[in-house]
Amino acid sequence: MTRADRWQLTIASDAAAMSELAADAVAEVIRATPEAVITVPTGSTPLHLFDILVARAHRQEIDFGRVHLFSLDDYLGLSIDDPNSLSGWLSRAFLRRIAFAPDRVHLIPANADDPQSAALEYDRALARQGGFDIAVVGMGENGHVAFNEPGSDASSRTRVVDLTPETVAQASAYWGNRYPIPARAMTVGIANLLEARRIVLIVSGAAKAGALQRALEGPTEPSTPASLLRLAGPRFEVIADRDAASLLSVVDAR
Ligand code: PGA
Repeated sequence: MTRADRWQLTIASDAAAMSELAADAVAEVIRATPEAVITVPTGSTPLHLFDILVARAHRQEIDFGRVHLFSLDDYLGLSIDDPNSLSGWLSRAFLRRIAFAPDRVHLIPANADDPQSAALEYDRALARQGGFDIAVVGMGENGHVAFNEPGSDASSRTRVVDLTPETVAQASAYWGNRYPIPARAMTVGIANLLEARRIVLIVSGAAKAGALQRALEGPTEPSTPASLLRLAGPRFEVIADRDAASLLSVVDAR
């Protein structure tokens, strides 16, 4: 494989620098394609990225006015007001702060009466919109991407999944173990992400170093779903901070 065919790795000095680089990628895509279709992750990793995007939007450096957002994942059967709802979280942490047009926000229909057919319809809506121009994703300590847990394959699409006990524990800890976390979720699939024109994986912190090493230097296989993103070749970019990159042997940072 020549370098031009390869995915890209950038090692940032810290999580703040990682977030700036990810914001640059989002800004670049929206500048080139004002009606871009984007997604962003939930969790602690993107929080500073959201602050940067909100600040840039307020300074009118990025115009989200025509952008479409499709969300990545949510727990099954929760209303948006439920404290565990990732859709509610995303609205508060990002979308409302930039007054993102509600008719351009497509939240994954994890609370639909018929989740299986709603998942198919979500895929169709994403396809009608042309798929993701940029998918910014995070990674769990077990290598999951969105809620594509180990075992998810490269052809997977939006669907209902069972969460692993580690993922449920990680999510419970995020909320200080105050709320029981549902064990089922709906997630976009690896295939939806692989079709994105640009996939940006952001990873920070030493706790993710082992998973990042497996994702980038292990085999591309469903046991580490993030590794499958390498199948996108040069459309796949990893932005990791130094701590997350600490176990990588192939350091070919730009
Ligand atoms: P985190 O979650 O950003 O809170 O670490 C990432 C994930 O589990 O996908």
